[in-house]
Amino acid sequence: MRPVILVVDDDRSMRDSVAKALERASHLVYQAPDAAAALSILSEREIDVVISDIRMPGLNGNELVREVKRRSHETEVILLTAFATVESALEAMKDGAFDYLTKPIPGGPEAVELVVAKALERKELRSANRRLREELAEKYSFEHLVGKTAVMQKIFHIIQEVASTDVTVLITGESGTGKELVARAVHFRSGRRDNPFVVVDCGSIPGTLLESELFGFERGAFTGAVRSHKGRFESADRGTVFLDEIGNMDPTLQAKLLRFLQERTFSRLGDDKETRVDVRVIAATNVDLALMVKEGKFREDLFFRLSVVPLRMPPLRERPEDIPLLISHLAQKAFKELNVSQKPFSDEALQRCLEYDWPGNIRELENALKYAIALSQHAGEIGLLHLPAPLQRPAPRPAMAAGYESSLSLDEVEKRHILSVLNAEKWNISRASGVLGINRTTLYKKMEKYGYGTPAEDRPA
Ligand SMILES: Nc1ncnc2c1ncn2[C@@H]1O[C@H](COP(=O)(O)OP(=O)(O)OP(=O)(O)O)[C@@H](O)[C@H]1O
Ligand SMILES: [Mg+2]
Repeated sequence: MRPVILVVDDDRSMRDSVAKALERASHLVYQAPDAAAALSILSEREIDVVISDIRMPGLNGNELVREVKRRSHETEVILLTAFATVESALEAMKDGAFDYLTKPIPGGPEAVELVVAKALERKELRSANRRLREELAEKYSFEHLVGKTAVMQKIFHIIQEVASTDVTVLITGESGTGKELVARAVHFRSGRRDNPFVVVDCGSIPGTLLESELFGFERGAFTGAVRSHKGRFESADRGTVFLDEIGNMDPTLQAKLLRFLQERTFSRLGDDKETRVDVRVIAATNVDLALMVKEGKFREDLFFRLSVVPLRMPPLRERPEDIPLLISHLAQKAFKELNVSQKPFSDEALQRCLEYDWPGNIRELENALKYAIALSQHAGEIGLLHLPAPLQRPAPRPAMAAGYESSLSLDEVEKRHILSVLNAEKWNISRASGVLGINRTTLYKKMEKYGYGTPAEDRPA
């Protein structure tokens, strides 16, 4: 697209010569004799760069800069200034002007072209950054955190509520349940979204290294510290730090982190100076921290500090109702990512996905789908045989398996057992009633009681 420039000057010959130079560079150029006219053009069309005189009747150039920046932050402004007003030009740079040229312009038309080209470059960079941020923001919006079960809906609600506060959140859950995705959602829904989201994996960085990674160090703080180094907390200023696998943090560092959470100040290793930063902390763990506290492996005071708002991510097997939705969402993503055209899943493949217990949770599901999509390139549909090996084995009959929860009521046991037999018998009522040792009418009655509705035409009279 052709860059659009607006030239503002009450001196007609100046305006014309600048406009000519830019038109030669095949820019689209508008002209205005004063700030008021400039603003009315700005309100009608999108302008990439404004070149404006400083001293004009009505609003001056400085005021125009502020107004332009207020209306459209990404529009760049270049000022034209006589020697007497250089100071105002410098002042305007603080308000966001891109650069200034002194009049008469020493380098002539080429100089104008050059500054405009640089201003356009910066504008392009800024919009690219903004787009990237918007894409990221969209990526982690709730539409991408999929889940229709009540437990997931409740989690979305909590994310929404806590995002705008600075409260510390502790996310627990098995591997692959979406802990990091939730942490990002909190960040991108908060006022900190334009500032960094910094991930620190406390599990993969050894103890002493982790301390310097988090808090930074001064030159000479330890052997090998040849130059000073900014820590992650400092880099994340005004943003969010995500402390992943917090359960792996060693006790000395736990103490230092606690102090940081209380005071919001810290000092780099090898330095006494206290630095204050403004960060929000979100922590995650897949171990039972409360148990670690009991066993004396994790500081209780730190545990309470971190878990102001605890969020437990349920494993996928606790919410199988979300599986179909997740499959369609993740498969869409995988088709795009692998650049493969969409194709359907066979009923058996879907059924197997529903029965499987997904020990690796959503990450495992995501990988399984990618695997199946990649392996079925030459097939018309994605079938059972395209699924990864663990899914090839039929699910064990869950009924009365070891580890049956002893807290269940008799009704609940009956309800679950009926469901598992129905599933195993593919909802064939005669066979299921045979397995259960009851007649079909009784089975229908029980199905109705437990909300497993059956099509009316199948019912015995
Ligand atoms: N509710 C969800 N909807 C859609 N995708 C999800 C959801 N939860 C997780 N995912 C996807 O599953 C994968 C694993 O999620 P994530 O990395 O957040 O899990 P985690 O709990 O941090 O795992 P780990 O403990 O292994 O680090 C990611 O690709 C993520 O995008
Ligand atoms: Mg993770």
